[in-house]
Amino acid sequence: MKSFLNVKDLGDLKEALSEAVEIKADRYKYDTLGKNKTLLMVFFNNSLRTRLSTQKAAMNLGMNTIVLDVNAGAWKLETERGVIMDGDKSEHLLEAIPVMGSFCDVIGIRSFAGLTDRDYDYAETVYHQFEQYSGKPVFAMETATVHPLQAFADLFTISEFWKKETRRPKVVLTWAPHPKALPQAVPNSFAQWMLEADRQQIPLAGAGNDCGIDFVVTHPEGYELDALFTAGATIEYDQRKAFEGADFIYAKNWSCPGVTGGKENYGKILSKDMSWTVDAEHMSWTNNARFMHCLPVRRGMIVTDDVIEAPTSIVIPEAANREISATVVLKRILQGL
Ligand code: CP
Repeated sequence: MKSFLNVKDLGDLKEALSEAVEIKADRYKYDTLGKNKTLLMVFFNNSLRTRLSTQKAAMNLGMNTIVLDVNAGAWKLETERGVIMDGDKSEHLLEAIPVMGSFCDVIGIRSFAGLTDRDYDYAETVYHQFEQYSGKPVFAMETATVHPLQAFADLFTISEFWKKETRRPKVVLTWAPHPKALPQAVPNSFAQWMLEADRQQIPLAGAGNDCGIDFVVTHPEGYELDALFTAGATIEYDQRKAFEGADFIYAKNWSCPGVTGGKENYGKILSKDMSWTVDAEHMSWTNNARFMHCLPVRRGMIVTDDVIEAPTSIVIPEAANREISATVVLKRILQGL
């Protein structure tokens, strides 16, 4: 594998989930695969889970790691072509990328969305520049529009928690309020991976039973995600109806994706409606659903204390599975070197 950005890059999800099971049973099984190989992790913004889990995954595989925080200790980088660099940015990304590539074998990129220019963000310019100019395999550690390592961990977590059941699960992605404008990367990828798991008829329940996922997205009007990620999903604007019979509730805030109502609203907060905060009453509408969130999460905005602390909350095993998804992805990249 030379690039990991979308669910299709992983191919057969059944095989990928089997590899995740294998790695979880023995996370050091391939501990010589990365001998004398170096992973460079490039962060354009903050991270706790991605940083720790990806570095741990590299260590599981015997790799060396270098972490570069672009905004702390490196030269400020210009990312656009054609600009006169007379401001505070000392280096252009187009020189920095091949230099970075000369010191490593694999590059992970956390690029994040600017949330001002929809076309620029959705073109994934920074990620594709790394693909083009680094000369090395690259993978997304959350980019402007996707977070595939998170979505892979989410799918794996659902498969673990659902395997004793005898039917396909109902999984609901719900928007929830937040004080700051956030990207659409996590909900985009979550939708893309849930729908692909359904298309591939992944057996998540016990053997011989229904395969795939009933996937529903619920949000206030104006928050429609790009059909590139949600085509085939059920969109339900009534949050209560969406929650009824749900087995998994995946809460997340995202800013306006600029799909309906024009691009000028892209990245804006259209609503802070606190009636969308996931509380005990919301969870009582479900089928005793598991609560999921990628973290970090703002309590009192996205979810109440009692819901995130309840036995049905699986946010911690979900986060822990980031090590597993990163190990599988890095293993595949190393096997392709
Ligand atoms: N879920 C996630 O990617 O967390 P971090 O931003 O802390 O890496």
